[in-house]
Amino acid sequence: MFNLDRRTFLGSGLIAGAAIITPDVALAGATPAGWALGVADVEADIPQETLRLIAGKVPSGFSTTLFRNGPAKFRRGGSEAGHWFDGDGLVRKWQVRDGQATLAARFVDTPKRRLETKLSAIVQPGFGSPRRAGAIVNGPDDTNAANTSVMMSDGKLYALWEGGSPMMMDRDTLTTIGPKTFRRDLKQMPFSAHPRVDKDGTVWNFGGNGKGTFIWKLYPDGSLAKAEMVPLTRKSYFHDFTTTARHLIIVLQPWVQEEFKFPLSTGMVWKPQLGTQVVVIDKDDFSKRRTFELPAFSFFHLADGWEEKDGTIRFDGCLEADPTFGQQSASALLRGEHIKAPTPMLTQIILRPNGRAEMNMTRIAAEFPASDRRIAGKARRFTTHVTGYRGTPFPHAIAMWDWAKGRDDKYDFGDHQQVEEFLLVAGGEGERDGWLIGTTLNLKERKTELHLLDAKRLKDGPIASWRASVPLPIGFHGTIG
Ligand SMILES: [Fe+2]
Repeated sequence: MFNLDRRTFLGSGLIAGAAIITPDVALAGATPAGWALGVADVEADIPQETLRLIAGKVPSGFSTTLFRNGPAKFRRGGSEAGHWFDGDGLVRKWQVRDGQATLAARFVDTPKRRLETKLSAIVQPGFGSPRRAGAIVNGPDDTNAANTSVMMSDGKLYALWEGGSPMMMDRDTLTTIGPKTFRRDLKQMPFSAHPRVDKDGTVWNFGGNGKGTFIWKLYPDGSLAKAEMVPLTRKSYFHDFTTTARHLIIVLQPWVQEEFKFPLSTGMVWKPQLGTQVVVIDKDDFSKRRTFELPAFSFFHLADGWEEKDGTIRFDGCLEADPTFGQQSASALLRGEHIKAPTPMLTQIILRPNGRAEMNMTRIAAEFPASDRRIAGKARRFTTHVTGYRGTPFPHAIAMWDWAKGRDDKYDFGDHQQVEEFLLVAGGEGERDGWLIGTTLNLKERKTELHLLDAKRLKDGPIASWRASVPLPIGFHGTIG
């Protein structure tokens, strides 16, 4: 029986290793695109502004809200965060209504941000940041950057990190309400940034990773249904998991936490000789578990899974040859350096009833996989993803991969644009009936843009594009509110 306490989780939730790799270093300022704007600081909240329509026309009656999150403050008083994943979370609210688009953004008011504002220094430790003089670390939420994603549950907005509590936000004003505690004895237990939502609104999530992980189940009304520890065979780092209608799926990459110390990344070691394990857990009985073996790969993100009549399970993810990006590149970004890392490739993983596992690699560079949330847990044909990595750390294109035809429908925004996650706004019954909405950072204009594309014709480019008055750094994940 595992008995991991909250402090153990503080150390087990996060990253990286120390492989010796000769970096191909290029100073950001030397690249024509000046990609370092993607990791620049935002100094203050952004009051609501109406965006300028720069091309196209919004479809009649179209209305949606896109909430996004990402780190946006890395440097204070001469000190700086040691990793892209450690900046303060800035929640952005993009709204399209009555033919107009607006933007407002507010930092999540965390203990970390309050302390560092007071000290005018980056002191709190994290994924790749050391503990500095003045740091206060008594529990997971002291280092909670609330910077990775957002969740809407029962109409309530939460800013998510992976090593601490979800932070409740007012969805209208983006005011921080505070950390959410689902049950008193679960205060500050990690709630990851990648919950999966069943068709009926049931939320599944994990928290922390070590010799076990905590599994959360929330009812559609947002209340706690179940919270239980599930033992694991190794202390792998994982940032995401996936589900089918009947199962939870945890992928144990051979990036293993050997030691708990700050920065957390320095306690993680890449051990490819261990291979990768995929653990399939029955949603109704966590003691029913099966383990599949695959060759070694690293990853951050998976897409929704499903199972076929004979019990075959399929899901896809963006798989990398090793964790160089998380170990080294994502730290170097903040110093304006581009350390090349293995490109994440869109790959389907197939788990057969006979216990064998296979990988179907598309050879398509991809990150931020997304699919139609209305069919979560059901067979699907398409995966939306960013792509087009050319010379800068961030992608230039958005695409939708067709698993049936084995091809991408892609729109390339150009070398001067850095593309963030896009999500589907449903507009009909079919998987591609609707629009993709997402943002780019235009390096030429030095402004962030909002784009709407017809999900059936990405290659035609945006049907409407708006430009904000400010550049925002590259963010991670969002949700349609
Ligand atoms: Fe993520």
